Amino acid sequence: MRTPMIAGNWKMNKTPAQTKALIEDLKKMQNRCGAELVVCPMTVSLAAASEALKGSNIHLGAQNVHFADNGAYTGECNADSLKELGVEYVIIGHSERRQYFGETDVTVNQRSLKALEAGLKPIICVGESLEQKQQGITKEIVCMQTKVALLNVGAQIENVVIAYEPVWAIGTGLTASPEEANATIAAIRGAIREVFGAAADRVRILYGGSMNAKNAHDLMAQPEIDGGLIGGAALAAEKFDGVVNFN
Ligand code: 13P
Repeated sequence: MRTPMIAGNWKMNKTPAQTKALIEDLKKMQNRCGAELVVCPMTVSLAAASEALKGSNIHLGAQNVHFADNGAYTGECNADSLKELGVEYVIIGHSERRQYFGETDVTVNQRSLKALEAGLKPIICVGESLEQKQQGITKEIVCMQTKVALLNVGAQIENVVIAYEPVWAIGTGLTASPEEANATIAAIRGAIREVFGAAADRVRILYGGSMNAKNAHDLMAQPEIDGGLIGGAALAAEKFDGVVNFN
């Protein structure tokens, strides 16, 4: 009942020209497993991406959005501009934003509410640090992050995607085992159910963290895992192909 999603988070990679070139390669790729495909380039490359994606089935996502309509927020980007460029999804609260740019659960909530108000679908990232994992508090951490991020979301919950990204698995080559990721994602869905009831079963929850062609099959076979948020393996068409065609 949930359409799988494979989303590429390109992070701070790919100039506008490189974005266009990668998208041209991705458009030639087969999509045998039928997942919804999303690419999330840098803000400055979104216009080039939008143009290159015309007529394709690949959806466009941004990597952040501000919570104000406009104003004195130097360096930020508002939701209306993203909408105007044809952006459909927006990653919010990635651990790199939390670690380097002071993003908190509260600002993640504010950004998510603004995205939804503007008709953008947030991909909200949650995940525990290595220290928190070692303390055995993974589920508490991710459930709290999820609940705060979703405060006052109401009926718009149907337009939310969650990405569970253990911080220790991002860019490290380490992944949560499929069973471990499945259990944590089940806990996140349980937290959503506590607030939003049966709608929780319609919310897609992705896994992210060193997901690649080798481990995608086993991760995607888990019942609670509805897709992947892919970093490094999304930066070259042949690598992304291995994730997209996971079966
Ligand atoms: P990697 O796939 O490079 O570990 O990055 C995951 C990620 O942070 C996606 O948002």
